[in-house]
Amino acid sequence: MRILITGGAGCLGANLVDRLVPAGHEILVIDNFATGHREALPSIPAVRLVEGSIVDQGLVDRCFDEFSPERVIHSAAAYKDPNDWQEDAATNVLGTINVVAAAQRTGVRRFVNFQTALCYGRPKQVPIPVEHPTAPFTSYGISKTAGEQYLAMSGLPYVSLRLANVTGPRLAIGPIPTFYKRLKASQKCFCSDTVRDFLDLSDFFALMDRVLADDAPTGIYNVSTGEGHTIKEVFDVVADYLGVELAEPVPVVPPGADDVPAVVLDASVTERTFGWKAEVPFAESVRRTLQWYDQYGVGAIFSHLAPPPTRG
Ligand SMILES: NC(=O)c1ccc[n+]([C@@H]2O[C@H](COP(=O)([O-])OP(=O)(O)OC[C@H]3O[C@@H](n4cnc5c(N)ncnc54)[C@H](O)[C@@H]3O)[C@@H](O)[C@H]2O)c1
Repeated sequence: MRILITGGAGCLGANLVDRLVPAGHEILVIDNFATGHREALPSIPAVRLVEGSIVDQGLVDRCFDEFSPERVIHSAAAYKDPNDWQEDAATNVLGTINVVAAAQRTGVRRFVNFQTALCYGRPKQVPIPVEHPTAPFTSYGISKTAGEQYLAMSGLPYVSLRLANVTGPRLAIGPIPTFYKRLKASQKCFCSDTVRDFLDLSDFFALMDRVLADDAPTGIYNVSTGEGHTIKEVFDVVADYLGVELAEPVPVVPPGADDVPAVVLDASVTERTFGWKAEVPFAESVRRTLQWYDQYGVGAIFSHLAPPPTRG
């Protein structure tokens, strides 16, 4: 199949390229390298790279016209500066509209979107069922939710996956790379008193295989193990892996104003619909990511939360 991947040089995008190329698919990536890396993509004929922004409608249209993709995986997203509302809205809303419109115009047969669990805002219920109302309150969450809503009314055969924290190679956001990098450098850490869900990349791949199939169901789905883990648990796995023993316990601090105490997605509808279930246990998944860092290191770490007040 010809698969166009926006944001294909990012964490999920590049991992998907690694997964899809050996299966014989042809890939076209559009990426502006805002948070992705050119080196993440193999230099092979099966993978074409177009450097540019999905905000550029002409560029998006040319890519669709020349490549005629049968599938779109829309993975590009802006989030790296929580105060840059214009960039978030440009990429996540206008950029998404450009990609959706080009997919409509050229008759794309399946459009896969990735959505953040922050679309649920401060959930009234945890684990969060997929029918829970959306109520985002951050620039990233608001703009991603608008993008998903445009896709939902496009009439395209689409799947929007609301993802837990996908854990695996190239992960450059959140507590796992942060603790690994800081503990390796003997820097102090703290844990926000929050709970999150984590999903191993191999489980994400297993679902993507089902989602990309011709006759697969469409709609919006939560993707998660359904299990919550505290950030302190993440810290403990990283510290144990690195063999770090602290003189004092790591401080656990209340969540920041733009943070949410607990985000755990209920994926039961997804499990029933796709005959899929996450299988890799939490600590094993974190350790697999740490093994990858041992080999390839951790680059720049991004966050869609405002930075915390300075702490050691
Ligand atoms: N990784 C996760 O656990 C997770 C969880 C929830 C949602 N998501 C969603 O999955 C998608 C991929 O996330 P990721 O973790 O791989 O992040 P990432 O930052 O590694 O990848 C995003 C990619 O989009 C590119 N990009 C940004 N703005 C662009 C633009 N205007 N035009 C073209 N490319 C642009 C970036 O350079 C980057 O390569 C995003 O849509 C994100 O919202 C990811």
